[in-house]
Amino acid sequence: MSRFILSLDQGTTSSRAIVFDEAAVNQGQGQYAIPQHFPKPGWVEHDPELIWEMQLGAGRDAIARAGIQSSQIAAIGITNQRETALVWDRQTGRPVYPAIVWQDRRTAEMCEELKRKGLEREISAKTGLVCDAYFSATKIAWILDHVEDARARAEAGELLAGTIDTWLIWKLTGGAVHATDVTNASRTMLYDLHRMEWDQGLMAELNIPAGILPEVRMSGGSFGTALEEWFGASIPIMSVLGDQQAALFGHTCLDAGSAKNTYGTGCFILMNTGTEAVASGHGLLTTIAWGMGDELYYALEGSVFVAGAAVQWLEEGLGLISSPADSERMALEVEDTGGVVVVPAFTGLGAPYWDMYARGAVFGLTRGTTSAHLVRATLESLALQSRDVIGAMEKDAGMPLSDLRVDGGAVRNDLLMQFQADILGSEVTRTTHAETTALGAALLAGLAAGIWSREELRGFNQAEQTFVPLMAEEEREARYAVWQDAVHRTMGWEKH
Ligand code: G3P
Repeated sequence: MSRFILSLDQGTTSSRAIVFDEAAVNQGQGQYAIPQHFPKPGWVEHDPELIWEMQLGAGRDAIARAGIQSSQIAAIGITNQRETALVWDRQTGRPVYPAIVWQDRRTAEMCEELKRKGLEREISAKTGLVCDAYFSATKIAWILDHVEDARARAEAGELLAGTIDTWLIWKLTGGAVHATDVTNASRTMLYDLHRMEWDQGLMAELNIPAGILPEVRMSGGSFGTALEEWFGASIPIMSVLGDQQAALFGHTCLDAGSAKNTYGTGCFILMNTGTEAVASGHGLLTTIAWGMGDELYYALEGSVFVAGAAVQWLEEGLGLISSPADSERMALEVEDTGGVVVVPAFTGLGAPYWDMYARGAVFGLTRGTTSAHLVRATLESLALQSRDVIGAMEKDAGMPLSDLRVDGGAVRNDLLMQFQADILGSEVTRTTHAETTALGAALLAGLAAGIWSREELRGFNQAEQTFVPLMAEEEREARYAVWQDAVHRTMGWEKH
């Protein structure tokens, strides 16, 4: 009888689920959009009960569409939007407040306070992260500070906290397991990457009681059993990992030096650095890539804030294109950007510059500049920003990029992918699987369940097309130097 894996992929904008067969082929999927709540400027919340219901619904739909018996599912893999945090009642299972989403900036001042106390270095040395509202720690502290009686109840052991993976595990197991995995723990700003434990000092700084945090387990391995009432059979949960780490795994970036770039609203770039945590001297994050048994892999991570959002701006803000796909056709109307450089620093600059005062700019306009030049320069900015991050990674890791594997909407754009290879001077590989994140959770679950071997994994997400760099080295470096000059001219702009 064939065996299947059910992958649950709880992302920022949707809860989706995919049933994979033993050859890692998608046999059926389900998906529900997650409503976004913005109660105040800078605040972003999700309803945790809805996340659960939609995840359950997506899982059931995927099984029905795959046309299989639930008893044929050998394992569940869970992957999730990272850093989003919530607190719930251990007895009733009711959240005491909505989930505070990773994008939420309400705790920025709390982070400034930690910095004023001189904790920035300690945080980065222990957790591999920069002190920022992005991570879960201050979100949990905020809930305990602002919900009536929450801190007292947490201290009395009545409340539990966690990221979205923890919430789903707890719901699936009927409250039997309160756990997270090492990748999600490494995004909380409370987990010591080197000692592999919650850090008592940081917890004390934020007044987070010990008993509220989940037990940390390896990403590949047992997280308990999903009750029969959810999917019609008791199914072991065999993998849990954050969605960007799952995409890295789904691309089978199993060796040090291999990297992936997911082109979404922004870009999330992760490079496997092997079994050693590499500290960044260039504004990147050190994070856990995955752990299984006694093996633990680390990654360097950098994000570009505005990538697909710049293409959206061309469509909605400027009205230059009719759809994101139209950007390629239009960019091909011209041979090059005609000297135009677009820096889409709309919300400041992330890694490796970290300048929240930078703002977007267009350079090199002439009387001959057309819409096509602007479109082409905007597309190129996605690749140029990615090179900024990858260049920093290569310096930190002390090793060159072996190959960049890519996923996300923009990878269908051949012009962009070719330019990415050209400007990096490395190959860029688009793979056969579009759903790399869900695949990654499934591959790890199947590995942990003994369905396939590590060597077999590499065959599961093959190259669909490899873009080889064609640009001469001299031109590449000259164009990159112009880009860097342009970026530096946008820095600090908002202070005017
Ligand atoms: O760090 C946030 C990231 O995990 C969110 O990913 O794909 O849910 O937007 P996504």
